[in-house]
Amino acid sequence: MNSAEFLFVVCQRGAESALKNELAVCWPEFRLAFSRPGFVTFKLPADHGLSPDFDLRSVFARSYGFSLGRLVGAHAETMAEQLWQLAGHRAWDHLHVWQRDPAVPGDRDFEPGISTLAQQVGLVVAASRPPSVAPQRVFPVNLVARPGQQILDCVLVEPGEWWIGGHQASTMPSRWPGGTPKIDMPDGAVSRAYLKITDALLWSRLPVAAGDHCVELGSSPGGACQALLDRGLIVTGIDPADMSPVVLQHPNFTHIKARGADLKRREFRRIKWLVADANVAPNHTLDTVEHIVTHRQVNIQGLLLTLKLIDWHLADQIPEYLQRIRSWGYPLVRARQLAFNRQEFTVAALRRRPRPSNVRFATRHRSK
Ligand SMILES: C[S@@+](CC[C@H](N)C(=O)[O-])C[C@H]1O[C@@H](n2cnc3c(N)ncnc32)[C@H](O)[C@@H]1O
Repeated sequence: MNSAEFLFVVCQRGAESALKNELAVCWPEFRLAFSRPGFVTFKLPADHGLSPDFDLRSVFARSYGFSLGRLVGAHAETMAEQLWQLAGHRAWDHLHVWQRDPAVPGDRDFEPGISTLAQQVGLVVAASRPPSVAPQRVFPVNLVARPGQQILDCVLVEPGEWWIGGHQASTMPSRWPGGTPKIDMPDGAVSRAYLKITDALLWSRLPVAAGDHCVELGSSPGGACQALLDRGLIVTGIDPADMSPVVLQHPNFTHIKARGADLKRREFRRIKWLVADANVAPNHTLDTVEHIVTHRQVNIQGLLLTLKLIDWHLADQIPEYLQRIRSWGYPLVRARQLAFNRQEFTVAALRRRPRPSNVRFATRHRSK
């Protein structure tokens, strides 16, 4: 397999069809090649002309790059030598090594991230690099890259089977190893929604600041509210179900025990950010959010909406969902199945470009 003829894409286990369908629309000239749960490759047309930091414009791709080839073997040291035969003709700034997801995030205690095995393989590969390809004394392994840096990717697809590739860091996820931010869930986190909202804030770079008022629709038991409170926000949780006492006791937290649609819209007058994570169909969440944000006394600046793919086929409607959100006066809209999402995806939307100190959302998040 020659360099840049194939693209590898890593996604959530189970999201392969949604990924293939969206790429068939955006990139009809890509041809499906090797595929495993959570790992899909495409043959690219000979004249693809794609730059090393091109934007795949995909909701379901967690990370991707140009394939350099596949290695099979029984010993990491031998495979590392073979890896450098594939990759040694170029200079690299970083090495990212990670394992294909063994399960859906949140199932069987699995959470995405760099496993001990992946880190060990990374150290073996880094130690055997020829000096010409990475002359720096310390070759970073599984660290966050800077925009413009060249990343050598190694995906552990099966035991003894590695896929090697490369990409140039640009967007935030393309800078993280495997497209996954490193998030430590604190002891006493109320739910794994703590991970989800932290991932959403890191990815979206919404200019959320301590002291801002935020509301969450679908807030019980309260992991996301807890993470927002930890960031110094003033949080209102709206949910007919009970909140964890840990969250209820926080002085900056208010619980409104109701459904989103049951509230008077003036309740949202001071709110700057709206988060939604209700376990209902996407159009149900969007109906509720639309009713709130289009009220003339409400001026919510940004949205972080988790939309539940109750059926994977709902993924086909994502472009319409995003268009609907834009029509409410949020021109800056992006969507991603976050590493810590389950059968769902997250939309970040902003009413206007942030001030210059916070321009990253605007420059990195083109409307699709
Ligand atoms: C995935 S859980 C939310 C987890 C929560 N974000 C956390 O941080 O722990 C979904 C929640 O949505 C709530 N829900 C469902 N329909 C709702 C609605 N119309 N308005 C508000 N909450 C709703 C459910 O009661 C449930 O607690």
